[in-house]
Amino acid sequence: MSVESCVDFLQATQDRPELAQQLKAVTGMNEIIALGGRHGFDFTAPELARGSATFAATAEPAPAPAPPAETAFYHHEYDLAAVPELAGLIDELPRLKVRPPVDMGAFHARFRAEDLESTSQSPADPAFQAWHRQMMAAHWRDPADADAPRRDFHLVNLDEHVEHPGYQDYFEAKTNAIRLLEGVFGDEVRLSGAMWYPPRSYRLWHTNEDQPGWRMYVVDLDDDFPDGGATSFFRYQNPRTGELVTLRERRRIVRFFKAEQDPDKLFWHCIVNPTERHRWSFGFVVPEDWRSRLTGLRDE
Ligand SMILES: [Fe+2]
Repeated sequence: MSVESCVDFLQATQDRPELAQQLKAVTGMNEIIALGGRHGFDFTAPELARGSATFAATAEPAPAPAPPAETAFYHHEYDLAAVPELAGLIDELPRLKVRPPVDMGAFHARFRAEDLESTSQSPADPAFQAWHRQMMAAHWRDPADADAPRRDFHLVNLDEHVEHPGYQDYFEAKTNAIRLLEGVFGDEVRLSGAMWYPPRSYRLWHTNEDQPGWRMYVVDLDDDFPDGGATSFFRYQNPRTGELVTLRERRRIVRFFKAEQDPDKLFWHCIVNPTERHRWSFGFVVPEDWRSRLTGLRDE
């Protein structure tokens, strides 16, 4: 275990294409440590923090991202099977949709009706804004339960769980997905988040303004919804009109949207699964010109 081993690992991710590829498929610190371990680099979380700082000081600066373009549409959504370039992702879904062993009793005990109800408010509502500011200041934790997970993420981040029997298969499916998407969109692609939304789960209103750019989310469920009116959904506020837009979900869809940094254009959005179904979403960073890479796609 050492900082040097961590720096060597980070250098190897630059020098060895297969490692660079695998790094694009991980989002969690535990995952990076586990990935290093599998390749013979042993380091701890504090060593990763120090090693990353050391490495960043010596590494070549990353190329500047392409300048953002104006967007007229705020979301694009398709059935995965209807996008020929992406339909291969369907084959990876069975191994991506893992359920790491978590204490579901404790999970459900953390459900807060008032938090869920906040997703029905407009982010422009002064009452919502006051509540949101207060919760942000408290880092979304209750003072009495400071060790509990944040209240704004009532879901399971798959990449925080590396110690279960399905992890290796899951990891391989993620790297397969990245490889497929690089073939479509180019080298910019990386995984941005892999989430399991068990029944009655949610991700509260947020903007992702600290990570601007286009995202692609693949969404799937454990089964169809019996009732088209009672589904999981993605809700956003149209930055231009203030209108709330609710996108009801079904199995195997792919959604594109863009997180903005400009305070006048923030892309407020939330995700709610108020149903008894299990929902998974896999998010990827994709380039500005993603649409032009999907030549098999007919206009919406
Ligand atoms: Fe988000």
